[in-house]
Amino acid sequence: MNLVVFGATGETGRWIADRAVQAGHEVTAFVRDPGRMHIVHDRVKVVRGDVLDAASADGAIAGQDAVLSALGSSARNPAPVLSTGVRHILDAMERHHVRRIVALSAAGALGESAGFLFGNLGLRIFRMWLPEVYREHRKMLVELQPRDVDWTAVRAVLLTNATPKGRYRVAVEGIPRWGFRISRADVAEFMVRQLTSDEFVRKMPAIAY
Ligand SMILES: NC(=O)c1ccc[n+]([C@@H]2O[C@H](COP(=O)([O-])OP(=O)(O)OC[C@H]3O[C@@H](n4cnc5c(N)ncnc54)[C@H](OP(=O)(O)O)[C@@H]3O)[C@@H](O)[C@H]2O)c1
Repeated sequence: MNLVVFGATGETGRWIADRAVQAGHEVTAFVRDPGRMHIVHDRVKVVRGDVLDAASADGAIAGQDAVLSALGSSARNPAPVLSTGVRHILDAMERHHVRRIVALSAAGALGESAGFLFGNLGLRIFRMWLPEVYREHRKMLVELQPRDVDWTAVRAVLLTNATPKGRYRVAVEGIPRWGFRISRADVAEFMVRQLTSDEFVRKMPAIAY
């Protein structure tokens, strides 16, 4: 499959690009700074661009079979990367008839409950600490839902850099009970696996240990 990975220089995006290559896909890494791209591989093509520039996103999506996104903004860089950026991606997908997108989002973005007191407290603290980040995630989820594409938004709990376990829980409603962390590597494996599955098409699965 020909894939474009947005956010391929990010902490999770790097894992996604690695997993996609291991799964045999042809990967286009869409990055702002090619010097920060970690993989050199004959099935990885690096394309420089900024997702806030609709034309550069469009150029990277033409001819692809699917899109993976691990884009993120931060409190220090509160750009509309998930709202405007993902809108540019979806517009380009519709223009070029690219149907599949798997995008990383955050548990708590919908105001959903963790199902246990400690988890709800944690979500509330994160939402208060990073209101712009959660607002961006919410806008991305709102942007995805009416689109005529096969989208999956993966709501991850707290991301860690731990080694993958290969086992995790997924919940379409709410968040897996007592789940509060997940490694980026396992999220990447789950996201790449969705490309060959329609189990979570037009759904927002939450993932946690
Ligand atoms: N941290 C957590 O516990 C947690 C939990 C759940 C969900 N999430 C969400 O998961 C996502 C990924 O997290 P992460 O920690 O992997 O993020 P990260 O390391 O900050 O990566 C973000 C990626 O987005 C890229 N990016 C930002 N602005 C861009 C633009 N205008 N054009 C193109 N690329 C752009 C960055 O590129 P550069 O390398 O050029 O900056 C980077 O590759 C985020 O949306 C985050 O909110 C995080």
